[in-house]
Amino acid sequence: MAQPVIQRKLANVQVKEFYHDLFVDTQVKHFELMCTPYVKVGAADRVVDVGGGCGFFAAAVTGLLGIPTRVIDLDDTSIEQCKKLGIEAIQSDALQPPVFGDESVVCFNLILHHLVGPTDKSTAQLQGTALEAWRNQPVHLFVNEYIYDSYISNLSGKLIYVITSSRILSSVGNLVARIIPSLKANTFGVGVRFRATAEWLDFFESRGWRVTAHTRGEEEFVSKARRLLFIKSCRRDSFVLQARNMAHS
Ligand SMILES: C[S@@+](CC[C@H](N)C(=O)[O-])C[C@H]1O[C@@H](n2cnc3c(N)ncnc32)[C@H](O)[C@@H]1O
Repeated sequence: MAQPVIQRKLANVQVKEFYHDLFVDTQVKHFELMCTPYVKVGAADRVVDVGGGCGFFAAAVTGLLGIPTRVIDLDDTSIEQCKKLGIEAIQSDALQPPVFGDESVVCFNLILHHLVGPTDKSTAQLQGTALEAWRNQPVHLFVNEYIYDSYISNLSGKLIYVITSSRILSSVGNLVARIIPSLKANTFGVGVRFRATAEWLDFFESRGWRVTAHTRGEEEFVSKARRLLFIKSCRRDSFVLQARNMAHS
């Protein structure tokens, strides 16, 4: 029998770098634009934020849209922070999430690229598993992800994965980043797997998810040094997915 793939996880000190709300405004804007038809305001249904960190997105969705939310995250400090904000939060794994049947939309805000395994194939398997956990639920998935479109096919995301997941290349990267800070990455030595738009679209479709909406994020600055990774465009885009086997609207 095939062994389950083990996720390569960031250390607590690396996860701490995500304790900020810099991306929440655009995530909520995209969510409101793309997911409003799938949430019943005033109903008990939950919007679940998988890898929801300190709960900033969940708190904003509840505060602005009046929708109850639940965060699922592995990091204990993040879970404590959510609870301080009055957000329901469960310390659990995105690969085996608790499913209660009260979920309407399940969000993956900037988490899929962290579900990395020892190879590119096993990484895709982990990312697929996180989505698959919701396959038989009557939910829509909202995915907000970093997009790295490349001048050469889908090369940029692959190069970043190869460098960040290799101990040796990451040590070199760390040294270079002392001189060129824009090359700094808190994922050095563990790995991160960004993808191009077309790559994410193929990925979702190939795993049986219909992409019902896609919103392009604003262009982010790419330094000259990072352009050496053939990065043509760097953004945070959002997608809404519906399982092909589900008949819900
Ligand atoms: C880049 S942060 C994103 C935080 C927040 N969603 C945002 O958009 O700013 C990734 C989050 O995913 C969480 N995470 C990583 N792997 C996970 C897993 N297997 N299960 C649950 N949470 C995970 C981390 O603890 C972290 O809070």
